[in-house]
Amino acid sequence: MQRLGVLTSGGDSSGMNAAIRAVVRKAIYHGREVMGIMRGYNGLIEGDMQPMNLGSVADIIHRGGTILHTARSELFKTPEGRAKAYANVQRFGLQGLVVIGGDGSFRGALQFNREYNIPVIGVPGTIDNDIYGTDYSIGFDTAVNTVVDAINKIRDTATSHERTFIIEVMGRDSGWIALTAGLAGGAETILIPEKPLSIDELCDKLMRGYKRGKLHSIIIVAEGAASGLEVGRQIKEKTGFDTKVTILGHLQRGGTPTAFDRNLASRLGAAAVDLLLAGESGKMVGMISGKVVATDLQQAVQKKQLIDLDMYTLADILSI
Ligand code: F6P
Repeated sequence: MQRLGVLTSGGDSSGMNAAIRAVVRKAIYHGREVMGIMRGYNGLIEGDMQPMNLGSVADIIHRGGTILHTARSELFKTPEGRAKAYANVQRFGLQGLVVIGGDGSFRGALQFNREYNIPVIGVPGTIDNDIYGTDYSIGFDTAVNTVVDAINKIRDTATSHERTFIIEVMGRDSGWIALTAGLAGGAETILIPEKPLSIDELCDKLMRGYKRGKLHSIIIVAEGAASGLEVGRQIKEKTGFDTKVTILGHLQRGGTPTAFDRNLASRLGAAAVDLLLAGESGKMVGMISGKVVATDLQQAVQKKQLIDLDMYTLADILSI
């Protein structure tokens, strides 16, 4: 295998650039060439790619986003789109692909691999941390630290004004960001899709806290559990508390990656190249208990990394 392609696909996450850098530099270290494909699968379909060298990935390890840009390609979901992509695989002489993204991107990679027998290796990059086969996905740690920073700031004003604050965080259908940041930020209550809590139960908990002398509360709501605005409205209606809602939104996706995410991305990007050069395909590289582990892409897209409910119980106990 002489020439590889690398692309980033789906929602961007901090650390993707560090992963691209690792793919490019590890491949060059082994005497191989790398093409950087623009805008995920769309660049493959359009033939928008360029050769990468050591300098193309200089000064990007600390930058959020992705220098290759990204997209959620609707066209790649169609046989026609994948046929165009394969024509470009042949035209540019790509013999293997590294796909950095989430489960939607991996589904596309697996289908492409099965239809055209092009070797593919996935690298998990998503703030949602819901990918099976890795303890952490690239970008999750940075997103969690961003949320904790926001909780710290909101706590200052919540204390000063004796208010109830609702902070809505991302995560799609998963409560990983809410739970991890909520525990680290000392939130009073965390609403996650994996552990439904009714508004009445939530209000009861708030009331018990206020009766014991709590003057403010911070409630983290995962977007997959409920709408932060709706939770705020209902709490106000049922308790009369002065509630304020903050939706953190896309700021959770950007920013300089943490050291953890840079190291994770560097190790996984390099491992993806090693796997391709070893003749492997249809796999995803992940980090489990500190070790790089390869998982079948098929399993990675079929299963979800579930949250640890003990963590939820602990956050609840400690928030008393
Ligand atoms: O998958 C990452 C993610 O940020 C989710 O947490 C969120 O639900 C979604 O992407 C938002 O997607 P978009 O950037 O397309 O609005």
